[in-house]
Amino acid sequence: MFKGVLFDLDGVLTDTAEYHYQAWQRLGKEIGITIDRAFNEELKGVSREDSLTLLLAHGGKTNDFTSEQFAELAKRKNEYYVEMIQQVSPKDVYPGILALLQDLKKQGIKISLASASKNGPFLLEKMALMPYFDGIADPSAVAKGKPAPEIFQLAAKNVGLTAAECIGIEDAKAGIQAIIASCALPIGVGRSEDLGTDIALVASTKELTLDFLLSVWQSAKV
Ligand code: BG6
Ligand code: MG
Repeated sequence: MFKGVLFDLDGVLTDTAEYHYQAWQRLGKEIGITIDRAFNEELKGVSREDSLTLLLAHGGKTNDFTSEQFAELAKRKNEYYVEMIQQVSPKDVYPGILALLQDLKKQGIKISLASASKNGPFLLEKMALMPYFDGIADPSAVAKGKPAPEIFQLAAKNVGLTAAECIGIEDAKAGIQAIIASCALPIGVGRSEDLGTDIALVASTKELTLDFLLSVWQSAKV
């Protein structure tokens, strides 16, 4: 039986993945780089700085900015994003998530956040989900972001577990790779075209019930 669940935030607990996309799109437009949803799949789960590096490479502008300008662009994207998330409220929590968190708590299963976002704690507060979380991994405390496993390993450690004792839930390709590398058991929220066919997948968070998690764990551990 798994002892913990390591949650990604953006695109798993709520729809903020869409706001990240819109903020990158707005910044991209300002510096002459157009992005679409297919390219955005590459940005999902990836840290702010690594996302900007990918964006500039996508637009063929890798060497066009000094490190000061790079920092200003990252800051500007975050300002656009932070502006959009001010209105987030408990109504924005994805379907099924609250019931899952409540059921996990009743069973004594640890709940930990493994988000790459420095805005994670702010969003948990906005959605009134903070009381459910036994731990939050600080993304600035890990040397390598997703797809490296560190953030999931840290999220497990913060609740006294190893990643191998946990399920990890993610909507991003980089995040699924990180979960697998950490030895936690992945569940993807999204499409097999984006996340692969070799892991348990749900199309909607509505399907993320405690029973579903138990069945995924049992079938993986036989
Ligand atoms: C991840 C998002 O959760 O956090 C990425 O999927 C984002 O899109 C990353 O770039 C970092 O977020 P922030 O809020 O620290 O810029
Ligand atoms: Mg995500």
